[in-house]
Amino acid sequence: MREISTLEGFADDVVRWQQTHGRNSLPWQNTRDPYRVWLSEIMLQQTQVATVLDYYGRFLQRFPGVADLAAASQDEVLALWSGLGYYSRARNLHRCAQDVVALHAGEFPRSAAQLQTLPGIGRSTAAAIASFCFGERVAILDGNVKRVLARVLAFSSDLAQAANERALWSRATELLPQQDLTNTMPRYTQGLMDLGATLCTSRQPKCLLCPVQALCQGLASGEPEKYPVKSRKLKRSAQALSLLWAQKPDGSVWLEKRPSSGVWGGLYCLPVFDSDEALKAVLPGSLDGRFEALPAFVHVLTHKDLHLSPWVAGFEADQPMPATVAGEARPGGWFGPAAWPALGLPAPIRKLLAQDDDAAGDEKEKTPR
Ligand code: ADE
Repeated sequence: MREISTLEGFADDVVRWQQTHGRNSLPWQNTRDPYRVWLSEIMLQQTQVATVLDYYGRFLQRFPGVADLAAASQDEVLALWSGLGYYSRARNLHRCAQDVVALHAGEFPRSAAQLQTLPGIGRSTAAAIASFCFGERVAILDGNVKRVLARVLAFSSDLAQAANERALWSRATELLPQQDLTNTMPRYTQGLMDLGATLCTSRQPKCLLCPVQALCQGLASGEPEKYPVKSRKLKRSAQALSLLWAQKPDGSVWLEKRPSSGVWGGLYCLPVFDSDEALKAVLPGSLDGRFEALPAFVHVLTHKDLHLSPWVAGFEADQPMPATVAGEARPGGWFGPAAWPALGLPAPIRKLLAQDDDAAGDEKEKTPR
């Protein structure tokens, strides 16, 4: 019988299992190039592998190296990211590339501690890059891996509390491989991710297939699904926004760049107003009957439900977009449909403008893995 309290053999079991049962041919594997690994790790945050695959290929084709990405405009980066959601990732990705070029002579730093100083690279992402590329003995702890370790350890404290999360980081570090780190660390890190994605799932974990079932304290408790214990519920908020779809007879639509913070920061979007009244207040009186409400819909973000009410307004060919209530020119322009794909439009706006069969509000911004 193995010693349960130290989970002896845990790392070896994970490494061995990864080799034969884990995922080994994803496009960001079998490389130790930190640019490629970093790009994949940022894209894979909160986003499923299947979704990332296309984006990853397109990004690498357009930006083969970190200097190419650093030299691009933010608009181009956001446009290529369009549809992946969580756009702060794209803004940080761009800034990070620029920092790697400006502060690190175009080479990613080789330690997790240094990687973590870069924009958008948190503790777990830094550890993933350092372990995959440089074999550093550092622990990752993303959502899936928290679940795996909380179960294996029957970790019964609420991870929403920072002190408890710190304790789990410590346990995660104790469990890391001890030998042959260049080879074992990448496999171990990937193995924990793979276990979380394939066997040790939130619901109905496949414990019978699990390489560490014999030492899993969560399974021994009889209720592996109980871990990680539920934390206090995240409060969701709701926000109502009115959207102005102003269109000219040639099909061009007024789109403007959103402020860099807040919902859809930095993306091109229809003009957004806090209420229908605020939207109507900026419209010219001369629209006559060429103004109507479209069906409202809900767009679900991670922490917020957006209740969107679109209004379509037919502008004349030479009719300018009125200034804001404060008298400032609106920061946008008229863009024909051919120009839309190159602008980083938020997914619900893209769908609304496409008016395809999908109801614009059906889509969640992103389904967590
Ligand atoms: N999620 C985060 N990193 C990943 C990786 N390297 N492979 C698969 N899924 C992941």
